[in-house]
Amino acid sequence: MNKRKMLGGLFLGFAFFSVAASAQQPLYKNAALPVEERVNDLLGRMALEEKILQLNQYTLGRNNNENNLGEAIKQIPAGIGSLIYFDETPELRNAMQKRAMEETRLGIPLIFGYDVIHGFRTVYPISLAQACSWNTALVEDACATAALEARKSGVDWTFSPMIDVARDGRWGRISEGYGEDPYTNAAFCVASVNGYQGNDLTSADRVAACLKHYVGYGASEAGMDYVYTEISNQTLWDTYLPPYEAGIKAGAQTVMSSFNDISGTPGSGNHYTMTEILKNRWKHDGFVVSDWSAVPQLIAQGAAADSKEAARVAFNAGLEMDMMGRCYDKHLEALVEEGKVSMERIDDAVRRILRVKFRLGLFENPYTPVSKPDERFLLPQSKAVAERLAEESIVLLKNEGGILPLQSASAKTIAVMGPLVDAEMELLGNWHGHGRAEDVYPIRKALQEEFGSQANLLFHAGCPFDGDDNSQFAGALEVARQADVLLLFMGERHNWSGENCVRSTIELPDIQSAFIAEMKKAGKPIVLILANGRPLALSNVEPLCDAIVEMWQPGVPGGKPVAGVLSGRVNPSGKLSVTFPRATGQIPIYYNRRKSARPNSGKYQDIPSTPLYDFGHGLSYTRFTYGDVSLSKTSVAAGEKLVAEVSVTNVGERDGAETVHWFISDPACRITRPNKELKHFEKQFIKAGETKTFRFEIDPMRDLSFVDADGQRFLEPGEYYIMVDGQKVKLEIHE
Ligand code: BGC
Repeated sequence: MNKRKMLGGLFLGFAFFSVAASAQQPLYKNAALPVEERVNDLLGRMALEEKILQLNQYTLGRNNNENNLGEAIKQIPAGIGSLIYFDETPELRNAMQKRAMEETRLGIPLIFGYDVIHGFRTVYPISLAQACSWNTALVEDACATAALEARKSGVDWTFSPMIDVARDGRWGRISEGYGEDPYTNAAFCVASVNGYQGNDLTSADRVAACLKHYVGYGASEAGMDYVYTEISNQTLWDTYLPPYEAGIKAGAQTVMSSFNDISGTPGSGNHYTMTEILKNRWKHDGFVVSDWSAVPQLIAQGAAADSKEAARVAFNAGLEMDMMGRCYDKHLEALVEEGKVSMERIDDAVRRILRVKFRLGLFENPYTPVSKPDERFLLPQSKAVAERLAEESIVLLKNEGGILPLQSASAKTIAVMGPLVDAEMELLGNWHGHGRAEDVYPIRKALQEEFGSQANLLFHAGCPFDGDDNSQFAGALEVARQADVLLLFMGERHNWSGENCVRSTIELPDIQSAFIAEMKKAGKPIVLILANGRPLALSNVEPLCDAIVEMWQPGVPGGKPVAGVLSGRVNPSGKLSVTFPRATGQIPIYYNRRKSARPNSGKYQDIPSTPLYDFGHGLSYTRFTYGDVSLSKTSVAAGEKLVAEVSVTNVGERDGAETVHWFISDPACRITRPNKELKHFEKQFIKAGETKTFRFEIDPMRDLSFVDADGQRFLEPGEYYIMVDGQKVKLEIHE
């Protein structure tokens, strides 16, 4: 038999086999068919009870005892839609998934979600810090490696990224997002969605993303968690929605509804945001999950009288999955029977959830392959990304007299003090997933390695994080007197930021400020190194310090990146993604405030009205000079594109990276606009003596337009300004 015939026979045989197989196999089990066809087929086979189960999420784990797997899962209905998975090994998931696949009539796999916020086991810097890197490619890599660890551990879906524009440093959750600016949040949102999801959600190393908390949670009054937010439709559209729109365009599969009441309608019962905007206008075809118990919380918020009404309000508003609220499983069936919830709405909701499950390939690969922890956790490439991201996130806030990097001649004896020196756990940040203190590179060890051969390091605890115990001050001052320079590692504990971790003041605690003042008595240069989960108000300690380094909460790289910055091995390149005020009383403070009636007269009696450190502030060990900004055209029609360019020269001695922030400003518009608006940024590495060109390709409809209170984008003819590093160049948009 020739080869051709033989292959032909094989194909025929295969075709016959697949026809035979498909004769018995329901369409939804046929991976070759389009997702929509499979969804519709499956939906057509489901009973109401099965559909409703899909709309609920409970939790599973932590249970590390194999013998008790049955115990842990037996309470959970096998046909449940989703579980939050607290374990970090595939076994428990697989055992539960087996029940879903084998004990239910239709074998619909569960989707397992988890908060992979800034890492799973390899913990990265907190998101607020990540944004200070202005390196979206690196953030995408970090999310991709986090996705790998998560998916290989049994998690298909992360409740991340958080893209709540946040302008109140008291709010603990400011640490979880990308700062105060809508454009910055949008840019890092896209990077993280791409990193988590990749091009193929069925891959064994990608997870579905979830944009949260939809929407306006960052506007929580007085920085309190869970409370009311006052957001006009105008501000909703121009400030809080843009990152979500960007994330949906990038293909984010899911969205989480927020806890906050948005001007009278809670985020979790809000038809305008969840249905009219998200689904009708943006055409999102995935699903909305509630935040934890947000459905029954509608009762506390006064939007529903009881849990049945809460289920009706939330579900009809467009919320598909009830996370731990136990309202949908209890009441949806009755609500359908009573005609208060339609079958169309039930089908639409179930369809959305099934769609995501099909896209993740869960029907074909419901189980997570078992691997050894060291085959998925803390892999060299994951740690390398974490270290680079932490290096690039560090912001050099002050460097009086060029005290940094430390010179071996003038820093022979270095005193290292402060509550953070031996506090590995605090360096992980708030949402540290499965991160462990022992994974963190200790500050002490990093400094010993960096300086041990050339300097004498004197360690002293110095002072606690808070409280009033100053019993170590005297001993610390003795040590300070023997040193040439003092490195003070101060700041916040990891649980001073994050959910419901609000501070009424964002100054350093009194004991820490007092300690810095005490150390000043030694008359030695002071380098303050900060790890914290929010912007801090540093006016009272800033004059006491020669240098201030914001290292944020860096995750597992711990002290290594900052040691590199202190020695000069790493040239700092981070710039602030959030404004640092002088005092808590300036909150809310952000660079993109709307214009004032008297721009130069509004003031405080007691402090300057300017921030201590502006959005975008960050020093380097080299110097960059900017050439003149040039525009390819200075007058264009709305539909015409143009290019702005600026050259940047590294005129210093060291190689370094510079981020150029391109702002625009519209001096007059029918809706008042912010003073300036970030529209593009780019970071480039520039060798000493080299010049690089930075470009901003301007599409006026995208970059100069504004949005009205109904979300309609418009571009008015007239003058605009393109602004870079103190330069302001006029551009005309003509009819
Ligand atoms: C938080 C969410 C989180 C969820 C699940 C809630 O309390 O607000 O950000 O994703 O819990 O853990």
